[in-house]
Amino acid sequence: MARIAPSILAADFADLYGDVRQVESAEILHLDVMDGHFVPNISFGPPVISSLRERTDLYFDTHLMIEHPSEYVEAFQNAGADRLTVHVESEDDPGAVIESIHDHGMDAGIALNPDTDVGRVEPYLDDVEVVLVMSVQPGFGGQSFMPKTLDRIERLDAMGAAEIEVDGGVNSETGPKCVEAGAETLVIGSSLFGQSDVARALADLRESVGI
Ligand code: DX5
Ligand code: ZN
Repeated sequence: MARIAPSILAADFADLYGDVRQVESAEILHLDVMDGHFVPNISFGPPVISSLRERTDLYFDTHLMIEHPSEYVEAFQNAGADRLTVHVESEDDPGAVIESIHDHGMDAGIALNPDTDVGRVEPYLDDVEVVLVMSVQPGFGGQSFMPKTLDRIERLDAMGAAEIEVDGGVNSETGPKCVEAGAETLVIGSSLFGQSDVARALADLRESVGI
């Protein structure tokens, strides 16, 4: 069963909870953490997540686009993250970080960039709850979906990935194709929070994806 994970990167940060409360029915919230090193952009970190945690019970799906995720596992646990997804291209050993995330009582995910061979995540497939497939270069919202992602989703599905999450340029047109290819979780930023009526946009997206 597919689901939509709203990404707050495109939300109004001055009224963050005002936006988040409109997607409470999604049950999951995608949080993009960027450090200005792993990607050429800076977003937010544990304090923002911690403040949101006080307002909502949404499952916090935290996407770490940072060079050294191992140094921040405890900080994100304390902030109230439910899942930490780390990039296979980060500087730290993915296996060790995944183990540390589990030791801290959170779910763990492994992410890969569009140009990274899918074989690089294979050693971790049995150890993670999710594989996050980037369908744009990470760092910015509002980019166009890369069609080659569909083949990559199919390959990961065939390799036995537990849950496949697709992130970047997902909308009413590309979302259904991702689900058909084998994705369960669709991260959606600008097609949701960029809209004037966010709750309505979520309902429309659900309809187009057939969920
Ligand atoms: C990009 C982020 C995405 C982003 C998606 O680096 O990982 O989660 O918010 O935004 P849209 O849906 O606008 O492509
Ligand atoms: Zn993301």
